Amino acid sequence: MTARIIDGKAHAAALRARVAAGVAAFVDSTGRAPGLAVVLVGTDPASDVYVRSKGKATLAAGMIGTEHRLSAETTEAALLALVGDLNADPAVDGILVQLPLPRHIDAAAVIAAIDPDKDVDGFHVVNAGRLAVGAPGFVPCTPLGCALLLEEVLGDLSGLGAVVIGRSNIVGKPMAQLLVDRNCTVTIAHSRTRDLKSVVARADIVVAAVGRAEMIRGDWLKPGATVIDVGINRVDDAHGRRLVGDVAYDEALAVAGAITPVPGGVGPMTIAVLLRNTLVAAHARSGLPAPAL
Ligand code: GUN
Repeated sequence: MTARIIDGKAHAAALRARVAAGVAAFVDSTGRAPGLAVVLVGTDPASDVYVRSKGKATLAAGMIGTEHRLSAETTEAALLALVGDLNADPAVDGILVQLPLPRHIDAAAVIAAIDPDKDVDGFHVVNAGRLAVGAPGFVPCTPLGCALLLEEVLGDLSGLGAVVIGRSNIVGKPMAQLLVDRNCTVTIAHSRTRDLKSVVARADIVVAAVGRAEMIRGDWLKPGATVIDVGINRVDDAHGRRLVGDVAYDEALAVAGAITPVPGGVGPMTIAVLLRNTLVAAHARSGLPAPAL
């Protein structure tokens, strides 16, 4: 038996097509296209790649994408002023400030300055709070993409045991909330967890978001488990330079029921969910009911 490979690219393309149809309907009823503003400070090469692909996907969905590229020496005050301008701009529905920011800028202060109703990344504490209490709000794109993939593969998640490995504000914590909301029994594991292997062995769903190459081994998994690998780790070893996940993929293929590859699994879903969140923001800001996606 070999695991089903979860085609994140195909699921993301399908979501992007639904968003594009929703954008066309939004333009018909409001006479304007949803707008997403992306802010990049500095020249980090990985961030540059992300920002470029976000820009392309925004335009392909029929939205208005604007990029604000600031030098690495930009002051926090200047960045806060730009965020203020974007908050006030009626053509901007979503604001994304690419992380990481240069060390002299307090990222928490910048995120706090974004209008929560334009916070399509879902990083603002107001949106974290909304998620925690089950109120409508924006959910970080990567964990929401993972939850959508799990529902595509498994349907109803009720009663399943899930382990989330990693407790970041951007992935682990919101992921756990989304799984609890879907009636999973959730364990959050992290660097201090004792006997991680036996925690993983009980899980029907494993979401790995630790950022350590191939840390989770195939023989840790419960046979038939669904594995969502959020890790993107660059390695340079006997097999050459490549990207690997947090899960030892070849080993896991022989044990898991379904698994996301790296690349081509979770990654493409993140941008598709960003577009989804932007379309939802545009509807809310125009006083329209949330689109069916
Ligand atoms: N850096 C890496 N991933 C992300 C993301 O999803 N949003 C933002 N703002 N920065 C990132």
